[in-house]
Amino acid sequence: THVDWDIDVAEKGGYPDFMLKEIHEQPRVIRDTLAGRLSAGSLVIDELDMTAEELNLVDRVYVIACGTSYHAGLIAKNLIESWARIPCEVEVASEFRYRNPIITPTTLVVAVSQSGETADTLAAIRDARVKGAKVFGITNVVGSPVARESDGVIYTKANKEIAVASTKSFLGQVVSLTLLAMLLGQSQGELTGGQVKLLFSELADTAEQVERILAECTDSVDEAAEAMVDAASALFIGRGMGAATSYEGALKMKEISYLHAEAYAAGEMKHGPIALIDEGFPVVAIATNSAVYDKVVSNLQESRARGACIIAVATEGDEDIKKHADHVIYVPKVRDAFSPITASVPLQLLSRAVAVKRGCDVDQPRNLAKSVTVE
Ligand code: G6P
Repeated sequence: THVDWDIDVAEKGGYPDFMLKEIHEQPRVIRDTLAGRLSAGSLVIDELDMTAEELNLVDRVYVIACGTSYHAGLIAKNLIESWARIPCEVEVASEFRYRNPIITPTTLVVAVSQSGETADTLAAIRDARVKGAKVFGITNVVGSPVARESDGVIYTKANKEIAVASTKSFLGQVVSLTLLAMLLGQSQGELTGGQVKLLFSELADTAEQVERILAECTDSVDEAAEAMVDAASALFIGRGMGAATSYEGALKMKEISYLHAEAYAAGEMKHGPIALIDEGFPVVAIATNSAVYDKVVSNLQESRARGACIIAVATEGDEDIKKHADHVIYVPKVRDAFSPITASVPLQLLSRAVAVKRGCDVDQPRNLAKSVTVE
């Protein structure tokens, strides 16, 4: 009825679907997740309930999670290893719980779960604690099982997420894990106070940068979506941070548009996926500024020479990329460590735009549930 429609529109804050509303909440999520975290030049994450000495002794980190949360973990691995110099493995909870991972009292397990109630992630937490690890939970739901059963917890400040495919929770997880990586870097003596302050202020700047992406990239995203809407399959590629970002981009695409999408570390293209490429095959590439930018561009050239339709997410001011791509979506310049925060946003919008064009229900994709509490 008319009344229901009005209520519906009101709940969605004027947006056509919850996914778009939640994508637009991300600048707020970044700000809230960072609020109060820097005091007198050092990071404050009291909820972790570990002393500086205990943190200093950590010599191995496992990030365990499922789905989108696992992809936030892939990003965290890069940051933890580069800032804290601690070996970090990322593993899907359903694998971790059924093997015999190497856990000692100086192992830190970080369990990431939006809902805080995913069955495999909970089982992995219990198992890790029995084996003597400290467990940090990163969750969006206050008082959830993951929060209750972990030694310490960081809450992502996404607030309730309604769309089944996660967007704002993912960004909250990435920002929280970035803080954790900085904290580990600080407590391992790898990052100086000055470095932590600089990183923190650049991280805080991403809120405004994401706002600008949301205001400015609609047309380029729509054009890219139009180019891939009828495809049967697509590849998402990147290197380093860009590889981690591309996994989440591909997952979002298949979840809500049912377009088969697969992510690959770009350097692996010639070991198989390049065989898929023929005229018009969409390749979505994360080609933002980084130490491996030139390598990504070579992969674009190789793909394009075989007929691929290239959609590149690139850094503002990079005019050169237009020579190698059919469609370019620009994001503001940030340090490579923070590129997943900015580059993920146009990929979320791209998957939604493709899904809408294909007539899909973006908030409630078939066969998927918001939280998976049974194995
Ligand atoms: C389900 C949801 C995904 C989510 C995954 C892990 O598959 O549909 O969006 O990423 O569970 O959920 P969690 O709540 O543990 O992050």
